[in-house]
Amino acid sequence: MMRRPRRNRKSPVIRGMVEETRLSVKDFILPLFLIEGNNQKVEVSSMPGIFRYSSDLMIKEIESCMNLGIMAFDIFPAYPENKKDKTATESYNPETFYLKTIEAIKRNFPEACVMTDVAMDPYSSDGHDGLVQDGKILNDETLEILGKMTLAQARAGADIIGPSDMMDGRVGFLRNVLDANGFQEVSIMSYTAKYASAFYNPFRDALDSAPKLGDKKTYQMDPANASEALIEADLDVEEGADFLMVKPALAYLDIIKLLKDNYQVPIAAYNVSGEYAMIKASAQRGWLDGERAMLESLLSIKRAGANVILSYFAKEFASLVK
Ligand code: PBG
Repeated sequence: MMRRPRRNRKSPVIRGMVEETRLSVKDFILPLFLIEGNNQKVEVSSMPGIFRYSSDLMIKEIESCMNLGIMAFDIFPAYPENKKDKTATESYNPETFYLKTIEAIKRNFPEACVMTDVAMDPYSSDGHDGLVQDGKILNDETLEILGKMTLAQARAGADIIGPSDMMDGRVGFLRNVLDANGFQEVSIMSYTAKYASAFYNPFRDALDSAPKLGDKKTYQMDPANASEALIEADLDVEEGADFLMVKPALAYLDIIKLLKDNYQVPIAAYNVSGEYAMIKASAQRGWLDGERAMLESLLSIKRAGANVILSYFAKEFASLVK
């Protein structure tokens, strides 16, 4: 008898039966970019189809995503230069448009899951994720600011906070701050293995948040490293993370699998701005079938072991399967 694996590929029905990985709208968190003002919708030039919305239009956009089954959103603010300073003061001003918008989203859609970002970069005049002193990015001194930012976001109604600066001791510190203030139910999705990647550039365009000096290599991980991701994951689990995230996703599928195989905590993967831009740019030129390339990439992320996928494709995926 000859083994003929092709028998299991002979028709769409059989292929459907033996399909090992299936994407669902429930897998996704859609990142959204927020700007100040009213009735503003501005396309990100390096991310065709992705916009920066003012609060009022973001509410409408969220409603339209929820009608397609996308229920989770990660909101990133773009602040004008004049609201930035060395200590990211604006990040915990309770009247700031970011926090007001989180409140408005939760008021309009209590059933939506809102994730917020905990890092200084959108509010920092240095464009770094932490405090900068004499060209150095300070670790422990940044904690107090992140604590205030986290509390302000929890008060505004965040369901999940995402410490994204890849510095040390974040998860434990922020867990304590949340618990001590009655926010035991707020989850932490730790950016566990976030690499110093070339694939974040369109995001930094979207937020005007690129570092003014230097790069992020003293806090984000070296793309050459895998074992180091296990050290980071050990710490995050010990410190109480509810989810471990790998970022970017596509160039790091091995890291997603590594964490999946070694931890019981759900694994998230961030299919970042540059990964979105690559597919969109080649599809615009007719070099790739954009829809198929999107589906194949998303599928590979899930197949590698991600339980949760943060992706700018979330809405497009949802419209396609609807
Ligand atoms: C910064 C942050 C970045 C992204 C999410 N949070 C950029 C960076 O580290 O410079 C990138 C997301 C993307 O590229 O889609 N705290």
